[in-house]
Amino acid sequence: MELIVTQDYQGMAIETARLLAKEILKKPDIVLGLATGSTPEKVYKKLIEFYQKEILSFDKITSFNLDEYLGLSKAHEQSYYYYMMDKFFHHIDINMDRINILDGKALNIEQECKDFEEKIRKAGGIDLQLLGIGHNGHIGFNEPSEDIEPDTRVVNLTEETIEANSRFFDSIEEVPNKAITMGMKTIMNARKIILIANGEDKAEAIFDTVRGPIDPKHPGSILQLHCNATVIVDKDAAKLL
Ligand code: PGA
Repeated sequence: MELIVTQDYQGMAIETARLLAKEILKKPDIVLGLATGSTPEKVYKKLIEFYQKEILSFDKITSFNLDEYLGLSKAHEQSYYYYMMDKFFHHIDINMDRINILDGKALNIEQECKDFEEKIRKAGGIDLQLLGIGHNGHIGFNEPSEDIEPDTRVVNLTEETIEANSRFFDSIEEVPNKAITMGMKTIMNARKIILIANGEDKAEAIFDTVRGPIDPKHPGSILQLHCNATVIVDKDAAKLL
């Protein structure tokens, strides 16, 4: 596991965008796994800048998003579909037919999950997966648990996650208590993984990820087994390392 510590959030975002850009330039039809949340926001801003400066094109890439709230429509402002459109896809030249985001309103969720895995397989697998991490160490919405859950599936969100994500909603009651997430196997199958975090409140999760025992109670720690994983954090998130 490679570790890069930057001075601050801005540095984390620039370093991450730079690595992503290099991979996209190397393989213009790259298959990206993408994440939502506060942490990657500036990464997307930087990538948009690269696009606007004509350094980078996204017209051949395929993308798969990590997760989505169950029960939120694409039009809901807190859905991850809305987030991706608003913060990234609407500002770049990506082909909308090659965007894959789990449908939180799918009538047959089990089928939706199977189809998603199949689409990843047909795309040739994920070349590069971008990940954030929850305060409780969750990856995507793979919450701390006794066993590794391999596949894309519906999960119950923990109180901690609901509480953490309530900052985006008008009230905590509005936060969905279930989500659909890529499983750990799907994530671990990516050829390269970049996990990003900033802020002191993520320091413990980063410690468990980088130095802790490999344990599904700390989902991030599973990444220690990946042969090409890079953790990019600011110095606050690296505080306990
Ligand atoms: P955040 O979320 O970037 O908003 O902190 C990360 C996560 O929960 O995976």
